[in-house]
Parts: sequence; structure tokens; C-alpha cells
Amino acid sequence: MVFLLFSCSLRDGSRSRVMAEALRAELEGAGEVVEYLDLRDAGLPLCDGDDCYNHPATKALRASVAAAEGIIFATPIYNFQASASAKNIVELGGSMFEGKVVGFLCAAGGRNSYMSVMSLANSLMLDIRCYILPRYVFASKDSFSDGELADAEITERIGELARELVRVSQALSEN
Ligand SMILES: Cc1cc2nc3c(=O)[nH]c(=O)nc-3n(C[C@H](O)[C@H](O)[C@H](O)COP(=O)(O)O)c2cc1C
Repeated sequence: MVFLLFSCSLRDGSRSRVMAEALRAELEGAGEVVEYLDLRDAGLPLCDGDDCYNHPATKALRASVAAAEGIIFATPIYNFQASASAKNIVELGGSMFEGKVVGFLCAAGGRNSYMSVMSLANSLMLDIRCYILPRYVFASKDSFSDGELADAEITERIGELARELVRVSQALSEN
């Protein structure tokens, strides 16, 4: 199976990228194939609903989404929502997401934004008909030390998310 992992933070020192890399290691350690897309390097346009769909990077993105069985967004929480860069992926990918299993890794400053990913999840679920994993991982800055994960519970939850991604994607691909 092929899994697609988006690292949506555009800053060096990103905590959600640390979480993405931990999830990638879990999946690859289990023998899964992971396509990892760091949005700092992807050269994607902002969605304009028009010419953006002719951009080579958008075409590559849409092909990657279409080819993936399961997709994870590692996203910062900005203003009580997933980042605009994550939403842009959904706008560019559009119907390519239909039927895909989708999960989330979220990095936030504090704990009060726990449900912040739900707006994007609802759109993916009810508009584009993705299968949203009900288990997701939310980490505040307290879970990190010196740029590394320092919270055994978050590390465990990332492992659980990886296993759930594979389990649900495999089950759906058999039907
Ligand atoms: C514009 C902006 C808005 C933010 N909004 C929130 C927020 O609503 N809730 C929160 O807990 N943290 C918020 N933060 C803090 C980030 O979520 C936090 O720094 C997180 O680690 C960013 O992800 P990254 O480390 O992967 O870049 C905000 C940060 C910025 C720059």
C-alpha cells in the first residue's frame, strides 16, 4: 500500500514535522511505502480555483493523492483551525481525495485548541467523502524538548495512528 504524508508547516523548527517524521518511521518500519511531501519544498500555488489546476506541482499533487490509499496531514494549528497550507492541499487536491482514508497529526501552542482540526475534517468527510480516522494526535509545545518529541504518550499515540491508518486502509481496499 502507498501512504501519503503531508508536512504542512512552512517553518524551520516545526513541531508537526517532528511528528510527521515519527509517523513516517513507524510506517516504514512496518514495511509500508510512504510518499512524504514537505510543503516547504513542494512549490505549490495557492488555490485560485482556476489556473492553479494547470500548475505542474498541482498536477503532481493530484496524482500523488489519487495513488495513495491513506493520507496523513501533519499540520500546525493556527487560529483554532488547521493551517491555511493544509487547507490549500485540500482545495488543490479536490475530488482526488474522494474515498481516501485521512488522518491528522496536529501541533499547537497549548491544549485549548484540541478540536481545531474538525472544520477541515468535516469538509473532507461530508463534502469530499473521505474516511476520517477517529483517532488523531494533538501535541502542545510542552510535548517537545530541544526540537524533539519528549512525551511518551504522544509517541505511543503516533504509533497507534500509524497502525490504524494501515488497518482501515487495508480493510477498505479489500471491499
Ligand atoms: C498565526 C498563528 C496562529 C496560531 N494559533 C494557535 C491556536 O489557535 N491555538 C494554539 O494552540 N496555538 C496556536 N499557534 C501556535 C502554533 O500552533 C504552534 O506554534 C505550533 O507548534 C505550530 O506548528 P509547527 O511547529 O509545526 O510550525 C499559532 C501560531 C501562529 C503563528
